Amino acid sequence: MYLLYLLFSVSAVAASSLLNRNLAYRSPLSNVPQLAHDTSAIEKRHVQFAKRQMQDASDFVDEHYPTFYGADFSNSPYVWSGGIDFTHSVASGDPYDTSVLLWTRAAPSSDSAAQPDQSVPVCVTYTISASPDLSSPIDTGAAFTSYDVDFTLKVEATGLPPDSVLYYQFADCTNAESASPVGSTRTLPSPDEPAENVNGGEPLTLAVFSCSQYQSGYFNAYGIGSRNTSADFFVHLGDYIYESLGNGGPIGREVTGRELATLADYRERLAQYRTDASLLAAHQHAPWITVWDDHEIADNAWKAGTADSNDTAAGCAFSASGACFTDRKLAGVRAYHEWLPVRQVAADDQLRIWRGFQFGKLLDLVMLDTRQYDRDVTDVYYNTEFIGGLASYANRSLMGAQQEQWLADTLSQSQDRGAVWRVLGQQIVFTQLDLSGSYNYDAWDGYTANRARILNHINASAIDNTIILSGDSHANWVSDLAFPNDTSYDPTTGAGALGVELLSNTALQWSEGYYRGFFTLTVSPEWMNATYYAMENITYANVDGFSSANFTVRAGENKLSRPVAGGDVRAGALKL
Ligand SMILES: *[C@@H]1O[C@H](CO)[C@@H](O)[C@H](O)[C@H]1NC(C)=O
Ligand SMILES: *[C@@H]1O[C@H](CO)[C@@H](O)[C@H](O)[C@H]1NC(C)=O
Ligand SMILES: *[C@@H]1O[C@H](CO)[C@@H](O)[C@H](O)[C@H]1NC(C)=O
Ligand SMILES: *[C@@H]1O[C@H](CO)[C@@H](O)[C@H](O)[C@H]1NC(C)=O
Ligand SMILES: *[C@@H]1O[C@H](CO)[C@@H](O)[C@H](O)[C@H]1NC(C)=O
Ligand SMILES: *[C@@H]1O[C@H](CO)[C@@H](O)[C@H](O)[C@H]1NC(C)=O
Ligand SMILES: *[C@@H]1O[C@H](CO)[C@@H](O)[C@H](O)[C@H]1NC(C)=O
Ligand SMILES: *[C@@H]1O[C@H](CO)[C@@H](O)[C@H](O)[C@H]1NC(C)=O
Repeated sequence: MYLLYLLFSVSAVAASSLLNRNLAYRSPLSNVPQLAHDTSAIEKRHVQFAKRQMQDASDFVDEHYPTFYGADFSNSPYVWSGGIDFTHSVASGDPYDTSVLLWTRAAPSSDSAAQPDQSVPVCVTYTISASPDLSSPIDTGAAFTSYDVDFTLKVEATGLPPDSVLYYQFADCTNAESASPVGSTRTLPSPDEPAENVNGGEPLTLAVFSCSQYQSGYFNAYGIGSRNTSADFFVHLGDYIYESLGNGGPIGREVTGRELATLADYRERLAQYRTDASLLAAHQHAPWITVWDDHEIADNAWKAGTADSNDTAAGCAFSASGACFTDRKLAGVRAYHEWLPVRQVAADDQLRIWRGFQFGKLLDLVMLDTRQYDRDVTDVYYNTEFIGGLASYANRSLMGAQQEQWLADTLSQSQDRGAVWRVLGQQIVFTQLDLSGSYNYDAWDGYTANRARILNHINASAIDNTIILSGDSHANWVSDLAFPNDTSYDPTTGAGALGVELLSNTALQWSEGYYRGFFTLTVSPEWMNATYYAMENITYANVDGFSSANFTVRAGENKLSRPVAGGDVRAGALKL
């Protein structure tokens, strides 16, 4: 029954739409020749191949492809039918109220003696349903993938019910028996859904991750996030992969390849990370909302360089990898869009991944790109003193003018529309952090005017319930959000604070740097509770960990509730 339904729906579409339905071909940007795949050219390539295989090419009409065989792919020699391996399970991401992105990788079977000619597309169907057995599908369809996009497949499932848990699966168009694992995902509540009705009145849980380096340890945190918490959504703040090699040998986590520079390098690294069983399980378990930081491209990246490769007015400075920075960035961005279920929210803006998500009137999640989009020169180790001298320049930007304006507008609109909470997901420590007399100029402390403009906007517009999530520092910090050096802010009571930063010295209330882990945010209209989890031992795969601290924020208070962490943490230092 399912197959008939599918064939019927496929027969109505032309090959180019089967290509276009796979959003991976838009990586990173549709309609720009050097920056995306020209799917009409790929279709022509397929048709040329089909013609060459025909006894009598004169009968072949391009428009009929691939419906030439009545859309019965099982009889078509022009769609790969030698078997598919779903090599990296499934994933979903960027949920809206009625749609979500579904992801898989469908490679020609490694068991197959003959590998396909590059001109033969791989055809995959997808099904999404409210039941784990995938009965009564809500949306189904088919899409092509090919070597052009590393056999990745990213489709948007649409027409979905809001605020719902859903199940999805991919299968081979030529053999419905050959299917991917079933994934579970979720849509957001409709933007106008009253906060108290979201998730049937139960709190929503976000699991928050950053800085996941393969060679440093097993990704047990992802496994605990999906098995031991009630996380509805996974949020990753960047450094999902690392471009460097490092020494993972002693724990069996050596990364393959070399320091990343080309598209093939970035793809290989992403593919290797996605062999970690806990990471696969977490992607299969719930939708992810991600942004990149520096290491998705290279260490301490900014808009025109990184610590180990840069473009200069005189031309490209070549790094050890032999790649010019701009080419390296394009390769990293492209591979990221192929491998992660992330939306392209602006058709004319190749680099934009800053974007917003409305969880009914409970919460607005604002994901920022403080790293790759439009960041002015950062600390790349040999220039620290120089950057320190620039740090307070008013014309220095971390976000770029366009994103900065969007953030201010988004925060105001969020408050105006009556959303209870505003959560900013971003890459680096926001709060001023005096590291015994010096500052990290690669964090917001290197861009103090940009930070002041944001704090002024929050203060002047009386924006409530702002929670900043920060990654990058490889440690857990938590603090009130306050103007730097503001003597009217009282760290004991939190009076004078403007919000809370979860990650982050007068404002620092808790820090913990030994255990690796993550935190969950449990959100209700009255509370935003953060639970930090510490992993026992990441030198092998296990699910051993413990909750190391809990923090609560009451709606309307704009500070951590006192006593901070209930006065009791199981690891790290609490400033009381
Ligand atoms: C990047 O450019 C700066 C300024 O031209 C130069 O001093 C530095 O050595 C370059 N770095 C690399 C890794 O090429
Ligand atoms: C940025 O501001 C500084 C300090 O006011 C000034 O010296 C510099 O020329 C400005 N740079 C640009 C590009 O306007
Ligand atoms: C914050 O806003 C209040 C009220 O508008 C104002 O009195 C105060 O000066 C502002 N604080 C800062 C540091 O700008
Ligand atoms: C806060 O005061 C410290 C110590 O005087 C200074 O180094 C720092 O630049 C000040 N921060 C801001 C944002 O003005
Ligand atoms: C948050 O924590 C407080 C204090 O422990 C508790 O009363 C409240 O029920 C919790 N709320 C949620 C949504 O977890
Ligand atoms: C972590 O596990 C490894 C392998 O079992 C063991 O050798 C090591 O001592 C453990 N580390 C800690 C801190 O317990
Ligand atoms: C996670 O759940 C598993 C059982 O599924 C259990 O063995 C493990 O101890 C739990 N870990 C934590 C940190 O709660
Ligand atoms: C944090 O709260 C959870 C329940 O919400 C509890 O199981 C855990 O023990 C708490 N952790 C600490 C360190 O108090």
